[in-house]
Amino acid sequence: MKEGNGKRLFVNEVATRDGFQMESRFIPTDEKIALIHRLSALGYAKIEVTSFTSAKAIPALRDGEEVMQRIARRPGVVYTALVPNLRGAERALESRIDEFNIVMSVSETHNLSNLRMTREQSFAELAEVIALARQGGVPVNVSLSCVFGCPMEGEVPLAAVLEWIGRFAALQVQGVTLCDTTGMAFPTQVEAICKAVLARHPAMQWTAHFHNTRGMGLANTLAAVEAGVERLDMSLGGIGGCPYAPGATGNVATEDVVHMLQCMGYDTGMNLEGLLEAASVLENLVQHDLPSQVFRAGHRLTRHAPPPGFNDIAARAHARRGKELHP
Ligand code: COA
Ligand code: ZN
Repeated sequence: MKEGNGKRLFVNEVATRDGFQMESRFIPTDEKIALIHRLSALGYAKIEVTSFTSAKAIPALRDGEEVMQRIARRPGVVYTALVPNLRGAERALESRIDEFNIVMSVSETHNLSNLRMTREQSFAELAEVIALARQGGVPVNVSLSCVFGCPMEGEVPLAAVLEWIGRFAALQVQGVTLCDTTGMAFPTQVEAICKAVLARHPAMQWTAHFHNTRGMGLANTLAAVEAGVERLDMSLGGIGGCPYAPGATGNVATEDVVHMLQCMGYDTGMNLEGLLEAASVLENLVQHDLPSQVFRAGHRLTRHAPPPGFNDIAARAHARRGKELHP
């Protein structure tokens, strides 16, 4: 029953970046900071606080510096942010970031749509970002979009995924996140890709990042964990999505993933009750229903009252049984 056997998994929250970048309501800076403070106490390994992207591209996160500078940092939590280019890296450094989460897509069409650069242009600029990070002593993770498929190109060849990972590995990035940007991944594919990349680069810190666009987010998460991935991106309430990827919808919900992994006996280090309270705060901030399921249904052992008239039903059934036994 308890498949996990207490295996430690590391949870990364992305609601304040992947989530907020997709919201039509601008979440006030003070509210963003208060939410991050609440989340910081819940057991996360990492929180993606914001992104240092252009305010024209992602207006929802135009307050990145202020949020990053004003949050109180809890020891043991890595406060990261998405960095698409050198300008973003300079802003992130000024904001005393713990890690650069640099980004590019393994799909040429998505990279051009999202970052307005060819993949080669992105890679050349990100190589400079990595050099800057090294000077500043800041670790680098690279988030690769569309690893499991592109909404515009369709299948992305595994050879292309492996090539880009190899090029970043050669620049000694600390970690790589395999992103399923629009929920195109399916479990057997996830297993195959995760096993292939882990076998090639065993020392790399691997993270999986799933969107639940086609309802396969939890299944994909399990496939990644069973293939040996120990770090997982997820988004409180299941909000999220890339505004420059057609058809994008929310990430797999933190409370749904944590609930499942805890049931299975994995050690996530997370406080599920605290997550459900935080999701309620988040719902008020975004002002729409959250797509997550455990937020509505509660823990699987949440107990409900029996239907009205239950005592009469039970009494009659017991009386009938008495007659059946003693005619
Ligand atoms: N932060 C803030 N401003 C930035 C910036 C950054 N990281 N990078 C560029 N800019 C500014 C420039 O200073 C310039 O400003 P100006 O018009 O006042 O002179 C303007 O943006 C255009 O600069 P340019 O280098 O030509 O950028 P671009 O318009 O080609 O956009 C990106 C390139 C990468 C900055 C932009 O596409 C982007 O931020 N994309 C992020 C998308 C994203 O986050 N998607 C979801 C996550 S996967
Ligand atoms: Zn995402």
